Amino acid sequence: VSGFRGQITLDGPSGTGKSSVARAVATRLGAAYLDTGAMYRAATVAVLDAGIDPEDAEAVAAVVAAARIEVGTAADTELVQVDGVDVAVRIRGAEVTRAVSAVSAVPAVRRRLVDQQRALVAAADAVVVEGRDIGTVVLPDATLKVYLTAAPEARAERRAAQLGLTTPEEVAALAVDLRRRDEYDSSRADSPLRPAADAMIVDSTDLDRQGVVDRVVELAQSAVGAR
Ligand code: DC
Repeated sequence: VSGFRGQITLDGPSGTGKSSVARAVATRLGAAYLDTGAMYRAATVAVLDAGIDPEDAEAVAAVVAAARIEVGTAADTELVQVDGVDVAVRIRGAEVTRAVSAVSAVPAVRRRLVDQQRALVAAADAVVVEGRDIGTVVLPDATLKVYLTAAPEARAERRAAQLGLTTPEEVAALAVDLRRRDEYDSSRADSPLRPAADAMIVDSTDLDRQGVVDRVVELAQSAVGAR
């Protein structure tokens, strides 16, 4: 679809291949790309560096309010900075991954980052936005909402392959961690992970990445046609 204009939201749990799908769809459509998970991860870096407890909501809110969090919106590069320092590699580390659910459950953190997300989206004619609450909270009037799911085993296998882990024990440990994070993200009071009422559900369990990308691009075409 050349000349796509509008907003595509891509929500769902981790390990569904959401990020690589979102980037590929943005590239195909010539759209901007926003990884909102990277923003929560960057906020978590600020919290860890401040030496405060990620479960201390008040302290977390204060630290995040004072931090300058910057993310790029190009599909082919990853720019993530906290107070001018590049944290693109660090945000993928285990320390940040462990603490990010607690930080992203703080309402003041969400309000601040959602405002920033809406401003970044408003600056783009066409954009693919990935996260957990984009279709439900951030962009309720998006052109197309996609909720990407996959069986937990398939998600654990995929994560394992990304991390170069191969033993059944390692995959099982990842499955436990995925389930813990899903549960935390789905049960938090503020903006829990769930599909928007008008989201298209895409199950990637038996599709490869290209298959999922093709499906989302098709849905984008129909959504634009239906306008
Ligand atoms: O997609 P990810 O793994 O990079 O997301 C990191 C964490 O941030 C994840 O545990 C849930 C949270 N998150 C969120 O609460 N809302 C979003 N829009 C995106 C991510």
